[in-house]
This record gives sequence, C-alpha cells and structure tokens, in this order.
Amino acid sequence: MSLVLGIETSCDETGIGIVRGSTLLANVISSSMEEHARYGGVVPEVAARAHLEAIEPAIRAALAEAGVTLADLDAIAVTSGPGLAGALMVGVGAAKALALALDRPLYAVNHLVGHVGADVLRDDGTALELPTVALLVSGGHTSLLLVRDLTSDVELLGETIDDAAGEAFDKVARLLGLPYPGGPHIDRVAAEGDPAAIRFPRGLTLPKDLERHRYDFSFSGLKTAVARHVERLRDAGQEVPVADVAASFREAVADVLTAKAVAACQDLGVPRLLLGGGVVANARVRALAEERAAAAGVSLRIPPLALCTDNGAMIAALGAQLIAAGHAPSALDVSADSTLPV
Ligand code: KG4
Ligand code: ZN
Repeated sequence: MSLVLGIETSCDETGIGIVRGSTLLANVISSSMEEHARYGGVVPEVAARAHLEAIEPAIRAALAEAGVTLADLDAIAVTSGPGLAGALMVGVGAAKALALALDRPLYAVNHLVGHVGADVLRDDGTALELPTVALLVSGGHTSLLLVRDLTSDVELLGETIDDAAGEAFDKVARLLGLPYPGGPHIDRVAAEGDPAAIRFPRGLTLPKDLERHRYDFSFSGLKTAVARHVERLRDAGQEVPVADVAASFREAVADVLTAKAVAACQDLGVPRLLLGGGVVANARVRALAEERAAAAGVSLRIPPLALCTDNGAMIAALGAQLIAAGHAPSALDVSADSTLPV
C-alpha cells in the first residue's frame, strides 16, 4: 500500500493529508477563512499568500501526525484544478518541489474527483459502490457527477451556471447581517423559522429550463429574490423576519439540490447518491436528501464532515487509488488549471 502525501490549495484551505492506501494517517488543515471574513468572500490574492505561509508548517505537522518522514513517502498527489489559479499554483509548486527533491512520482488530480475519493477513507467497514451519482456542494462548486470508476470514468452531469450553493448561503447571510461564512449561521437561524413563509424561486426547475439544464443549478436569481424581499420590508419600515427568510431560503436551496440529485439517480438507473462539500453540513440538505433518497429507493452516502470539506487527505487518497489502478504519474511540467475538467 502506497504512502501518499496529498496537497490541496484550490480555495482557502491549505490541506495536507497523508494516507497509506485507503487508511487515513494525517489530515492537517490551515484555513485563511478569517482573513476573508471582512470581505464577505474569498479574496484570491489573500488566499494565495496564506497558502504560501501555511504550506510548509502544514506539511511538517502532517508528517508528525502520521509519524513518518519525507523519505518514507512513496508519492505526492496534488490538486491541479479546478479552483483559484494563484492558490492552486502554490500547491502545485510545492508538490513539484517535493517530487523532484525526493525523486518520487507526482499525481496531479482533479479537486472534484478528490471529493468523491474522500469516501474511501471512511473507516466504518463499508465500501463505495459504483456507479454512483455524486452531489458536491461547497463555497466554490456545485456539481453533479456520475462516477463509474474513480480513477478513469467520471462524468460531469451538471453544475452551477452562476453562484455555488455555499456562496449563495454566504451572500444571503451577509444580507441578513449574519457573520461570514454564513452557511452555518443561516442553518442555525433557519431552525427557528417557517420554511413555507416565503416561496422563493427554485432556479432552473421550470420545464423550459429542464430541457437544457436538467442537472444544472442556478442560485443567483434566488439570492436576488431574497435581497428584493428584504429591501422591500426595510423600505416599508418593517422588521425583517430573519428566521423565516433564512428558513425559506434554505428550503429553496435544499429543495433544488436534492430534487436534481435524486432525479439524476432515477433517470440514469443508478440507485446510489454520494454527498460531498461543506454545504453537506446543512441540516435541511441532509434531511431532505435522506427523505427523497429513501422515497426513490436510492442509498445515500455522506462521509464524515471532516472529509466533506476541502482537505488534503482526499487528494492523497485519490493519488493512492491512481497508483493502485496502475496509472502513470503526471509529468513534472504539469500546471495549475483553474477550469480543469473532470
Ligand atoms: O467545502 P467547504 O468547507 O470549502 C470551500 O468551499 O472553501 O465549504 C464552505 C462552504 C461555505 O460557503 C459555507 O457557508 C458552507 O460551505 N457551509 C454551509 C454550512 N456549513 C458550511 N452552508 C449551509 N449550511 C451549513 N450548515
Ligand atoms: Zn471542494
């Protein structure tokens, strides 16, 4: 079983993970989230600089946590995209330097496929069954994948055509005066509200949208609808029922995410759905996914949250899977690609 160090720097988390095959040995995460808080969203320049400062200490911490040395490593895996270009470059640069200095193979991997790969690190004795549909929802992406083989056959079914779901949570939270990142705050406040209080729009779910965008998502119209609703109340001097707005917004997001994911399972005859990404923490997304998957006879897999959010272990795990499947390593001139396809 290969000992692989994985590097993840596609967004605001500097993630270094170490795995032996599908056994998790270390998962160190250093986030620059607090630095982005006052801007209300991730600032690419700030993220790249933070990666540069965090990466070397994070590598050392991961080695210590795993109880191994650099010389023990069999390979280096790194996210080469998609993500923020400058942020990705820090990770790819560090990975190349390690691969070159240690004379070990380098595996450049796709961040989205990495989220799926995280599932192999579960230690509950269950294995990921394939094919599976995967719904990945975070602050940076909202994608629906069909995974037939983790290392060679992953198809993008659809993705957001504007904001990511987590981004919508963060923007609506800001509108409601809640702190960044807003997802957990909306989730908390929504628990006290009525999800049926306001009927917010469900993006790309009209019959005419479904023809071209059956598995795509759109959250910018929803965000605008929430903004208009709040403005109208404020202009009229009325108090904004924050809990009801949060609950109704959360319901709209959870409704579209879960309806499209389960529809994909049914259309494709794939009775398995895997969730990944930070938005999976959302209580309503989880509950509705469970309810709808059960009703459709789809088995639902949700990895532990620490493996759902961006991390280096999932990248290391995918690297180990690539090695086990006999894939050739990447060339050392591989570059970061902010729009890398799956
Ligand atoms: O996967 P993740 O940690 O990484 C990045 O996208 O960088 O996802 C973070 C996103 C943020 O937008 C955050 O607001 C959202 O996930 N999030 C949530 C919840 N917890 C985190 N969104 C909705 N409900 C939550 N409970
Ligand atoms: Zn991610």
